[in-house]
Amino acid sequence: MSNPAQKTAANTAENTLADIVSHAKEYGFVFPSSEIYDGLAAVYDYGPNGVELKNNLKQLWWKAMTQLNQNVVGIDAAIFMHPLTWKASGHVDGFSDPLIDNLDSKKRYRADVLIEEKAAEYENAGDKPRADALLAEMGRLLTAEDLAGVKQLILDEKILCPISKTANWTDVRQFNLMFSTQVGAVAGDSSQIYLRPETAQGIFVNFLNVQKSARQKVPFGIAQIGKAFRNEIVARQFIFRMREFEQMEMQFFVRPGTEGEWYEHWKATRRRWHEVMGLPAEKLRFHDHDKLAHYAKAAVDIEYEFPFGFKEIEGIHSRSDFDLTQHQTLSRKKQQYFDNDVNPETGKPYGNYVPYVVETSVGADRLFLATLCQAYQEETITEGEQTKTRKFLKLHPAVAPVKAAIFPLVKKDGLPDKANEIYNALRHDFRLVVEEKDSIGTRYTRQDLIGTPFCIAVDHQTLEDDTVTVRHRDSREQTRMPISELRGYIGEAVSLSRIFEQL
Ligand code: GAP
Repeated sequence: MSNPAQKTAANTAENTLADIVSHAKEYGFVFPSSEIYDGLAAVYDYGPNGVELKNNLKQLWWKAMTQLNQNVVGIDAAIFMHPLTWKASGHVDGFSDPLIDNLDSKKRYRADVLIEEKAAEYENAGDKPRADALLAEMGRLLTAEDLAGVKQLILDEKILCPISKTANWTDVRQFNLMFSTQVGAVAGDSSQIYLRPETAQGIFVNFLNVQKSARQKVPFGIAQIGKAFRNEIVARQFIFRMREFEQMEMQFFVRPGTEGEWYEHWKATRRRWHEVMGLPAEKLRFHDHDKLAHYAKAAVDIEYEFPFGFKEIEGIHSRSDFDLTQHQTLSRKKQQYFDNDVNPETGKPYGNYVPYVVETSVGADRLFLATLCQAYQEETITEGEQTKTRKFLKLHPAVAPVKAAIFPLVKKDGLPDKANEIYNALRHDFRLVVEEKDSIGTRYTRQDLIGTPFCIAVDHQTLEDDTVTVRHRDSREQTRMPISELRGYIGEAVSLSRIFEQL
């Protein structure tokens, strides 16, 4: 039985997520896809502020990978790939979820998620050993592909359908998560292709093209940002689990035997990156996989504490030579690298080998959601006699959609012209807006809600001495400064080197 205190905590978490979802829609960050047709489940569109925030996050990842590491280069591979790619990668045969239907409610569930929820119930009730034992048993059954055993576990645990409250379950069966379509005019098996379920394979099949053209020596990495598609059954929690989403992946090719140290290196580097980007250390944790994906030899998630609990935002995977060897077999093209560094043990070059791979894979949408959850603030402030709640997004200036808003105090006396003059002087460096409408307080509020770090007020004194008032989003403090100092001041706050020097 759930205890009332936990229920309240869970409800509060849901409320917070609901607040964030409605904030994201109202202020142009995220809209449900094709909303005028009542939307499409687990598909979302990014609005004017959302696309700026997402692009800024992606740019920070891209630069951290390709600009800070001479041995990491980028590519942009196509979404469609030769169908054998997915046979080789194991996705045709192994990329599936165990599903179960409830015959009374006609609802479909992921069997593993039902069991995980039951384990979470035990853990919340203080019985962690029972939760761990249940998860271990599920892991064992899934690894052994014993789907009848998984169903029996659901029955033994008396897990009921949340809708019908019955245990009238079908058998468990595997359901492939890849979307398929036809290429060309003639339908049939030979023309079936897939929408990529991960960007990684576009990197693997280009391994030698990139290594040779970019003249890279192992160890080196290939980075890519792109869309991926999965027919997720449990599509919940807003943009956390989508059917069309974006990944930022980096495959790091290493000499066999060195993968352990590179795995540790990228694990630490990527966690540090999230901290530097503004996700606090106490809201991040590592979670080692109990159940490894078909390609992985070791895998860890970096989890962030969302309002709905700690959940994965990034995976670090030691993939051995699985992918390159598979592609070598199915394409019949050698995927080997000649390493002419001398092996101190033999005194001879290491020679030809298929490199091992350590992968870092972060979802751009999950990073976006974590950033939004972290930034969303509600504080009680007193203005004169009044106490009110101020909502604002405490985004790092480098990722904020608008860096500064310029407000002429009144719509006359040449103040709008002066505001536009400042805008024109700075627009090549920063994304700015000029706002004339409404009271200055209302304009501050509007910018707070989208996370603009600075508001620049242009008043009559500006016309006399070329100074403006800069209002700071987080402290609401105001500083008077010469217009000539604005570029340096905003530039310092949004500087990527300020972020990167902490890495
Ligand atoms: N190449 C390895 C790979 O794809 P993954 O753990 O399946 O590994 C990596 O996915 C990351 O992609 C996850 O950590 C998550 O951030 C993101 N991701 C995966 N499925 C997603 C989905 N349905 N919606 C949004 N993001 C997703």
